[in-house]
Amino acid sequence: MRFFIDTAEISEIEALLPSGLVDGVTTNPSLIAKSGQKITDVIAEICKIVEGPVSAEVTATQADKMVEEGRYLAEIADNVAIKLPLTYDGLVACNTLSQEGHMINVTLCFSANQALLAAKAGATFISPFIGRLDDINIDGMELIEEIRDIYDNYPDLDTEILAASIRSANHVKQSALAGADVATIPPKVVKDLVKHPLTDKGLEIFLADWAKTNQSIL
Ligand code: E4P
Repeated sequence: MRFFIDTAEISEIEALLPSGLVDGVTTNPSLIAKSGQKITDVIAEICKIVEGPVSAEVTATQADKMVEEGRYLAEIADNVAIKLPLTYDGLVACNTLSQEGHMINVTLCFSANQALLAAKAGATFISPFIGRLDDINIDGMELIEEIRDIYDNYPDLDTEILAASIRSANHVKQSALAGADVATIPPKVVKDLVKHPLTDKGLEIFLADWAKTNQSIL
């Protein structure tokens, strides 16, 4: 499973790079707004330090304008994935831009039918939003499972499932079990993945016992 980092904060991405866990980055208009920077500057900066796909979202709502914005964003760097919302216009733009050879991340997916349409329109990634479904008491993980089943029924569909709106370490585990190809994870949740109280306790005991030996490895 590949990990994308769900942030537009350069410092957060830089902090995670040495771990080798960063396979890509996703942004959205809210994350760009939070960064307080110009979208083209942030995306260019992220693309310089991350080799994998970096999602940059259009904000137009009409297909022809989405296509224009998408082409503009894709010029920033070769690893830009144009992010398009799952509307009818978004699918039209996806069809055009994917045929031009661009990487496309279709976002704001909340149903299996939407995911089927995105794959037929040539999306590279489909982003089902787990957390936002959970927020309204619908099991977000069931959606990942349904999309996995549908895509597996049609091997000619090569769209990758990018589990998005991940809010917890458990969401990451469940997405991996459900067969998501990628998870886009907020930096805080990436750090949570490593934590286990028994690891901390075990290490404490090992170090205390080691201290009694008066040895040092180096
Ligand atoms: C990423 O592609 C999505 O925009 C992001 O995961 C949404 O997360 P949120 O629902 O926590 O805002």
